[in-house]
Amino acid sequence: MRIALGCDHGGLEHKNAILNHLKDRDFEVFDFGIYELESVDYPKIALKVANSVAQGECELGILVCGTGIGMSLAANKVKGIRAAACSEHFSAKFTRLHNNSNILCLGGRVIGIGTALELVDLFVDTEFEGGRHQRRVDMISEIENEGEL
Ligand code: RB5
Repeated sequence: MRIALGCDHGGLEHKNAILNHLKDRDFEVFDFGIYELESVDYPKIALKVANSVAQGECELGILVCGTGIGMSLAANKVKGIRAAACSEHFSAKFTRLHNNSNILCLGGRVIGIGTALELVDLFVDTEFEGGRHQRRVDMISEIENEGEL
């Protein structure tokens, strides 16, 4: 599986740990930066990762900023993206199972690196359940495409 990864200055340490972790697990990782500690505007990184996933270059994405929230707001503006900001295990698993989320957003100032790696594992290892959840995910796409249901 190919995974797109990105962060701002609030998530660099976490991003680097996630990069190493995913590589150790033999995932193909596309690292969209940042690579050194510098202040950046998180929407720029969110757009790169979201485009990579929306265009099919990568199957899933992971974004880290201070809270995970700014990244999720920005990524969700890209058509086809379902980005979820998660800080605990249940949500990281169920946003794959029920929402078919394709980007996980984490807060480098909210959770420690150990928890972040556990949430990443749950996210990448969980398959969408489909069934009744497919209808609901389709409705999200309909809102995105038509602006109504
Ligand atoms: C940057 O200071 C911070 O605002 C950003 O990392 C993120 O938390 C935004 O949602």
